[in-house]
Amino acid sequence: MNGQNRVVLVAGGTGALGRAVSRAFLEAGARVIVTYRKRAEYDELAAAVAGDASARLSGAALDVTDEAAVKEFVGGVLERHGRLDCLVNTVGGYAGGKNLWEVGVKTYEQMLGLNLKAGFVLATAVVPPMIAQDRGWIVNVASKAGYGHSPSAALYAASKAGALALFDSLAEEVKPYHINVNSVVPSIFDAPANRQAMPNADFSKWPKPEEIARVILFLCSDEARVVHGAAIPVYGRT
Ligand SMILES: NC(=O)c1ccc[n+]([C@@H]2O[C@H](COP(=O)([O-])OP(=O)(O)OC[C@H]3O[C@@H](n4cnc5c(N)ncnc54)[C@H](OP(=O)(O)O)[C@@H]3O)[C@@H](O)[C@H]2O)c1
Repeated sequence: MNGQNRVVLVAGGTGALGRAVSRAFLEAGARVIVTYRKRAEYDELAAAVAGDASARLSGAALDVTDEAAVKEFVGGVLERHGRLDCLVNTVGGYAGGKNLWEVGVKTYEQMLGLNLKAGFVLATAVVPPMIAQDRGWIVNVASKAGYGHSPSAALYAASKAGALALFDSLAEEVKPYHINVNSVVPSIFDAPANRQAMPNADFSKWPKPEEIARVILFLCSDEARVVHGAAIPVYGRT
């Protein structure tokens, strides 16, 4: 992708996948705005970004489930940069290990909030300006669990299934415009939290965040304009 001059919002852009996505866009020449929750994670990302790319990176602490805060934040991005070309939503979270009747409403709200509401709030903030500029790319990170059959992780599965449906429906709605909406669907990838949770797994089989980031970069390119309303599996050999 020729990312020159592209303005890209990476929600959760300091997380395990998010930071690989942020770096991929920076390396392609884009201006990257990340949201984070922990300042230390942003500082770590900024320190890892070399040379002129660091001048194209900015970030803000933001709860992306907070509708008013996200609207204000996107307004600020538009004011500063004049447009917003891409949204990549990597915010998400996992809760598992219990049967459905054991988890409780708190976990329900957490899973639906992180994996469905975050994408909804972000999309509702960025789509109107993308329609106004008649240009945009949106990629949401879902999960293979969204296709169901996930005992002990029903709420995670349900929230990711909801996200797949939401972005698929949005893709239909924006067909009249030059806005591409797609999901990427990992099964598992090589994230520190996964290594910690599964120390005996064969990590070499897991896709690297950088490999998934390259797919997302492609989905946000002119070359991928014909890929719209898709859910791209990035399972590797898992
Ligand atoms: N890891 C996997 O193997 C795997 C497999 C399938 C799908 N996925 C999906 O891939 C995506 C990225 O996963 P990951 O492993 O990179 O997760 P991660 O490392 O936890 O990154 C997610 C980022 O989002 C941030 N975040 C959480 N809640 C937020 C909120 N309300 N507002 C703003 N930011 C918030 C997190 O901050 P904190 O660190 O402060 O919570 C974190 O920086 C997620 O959607 C996940 O469900 C992951």
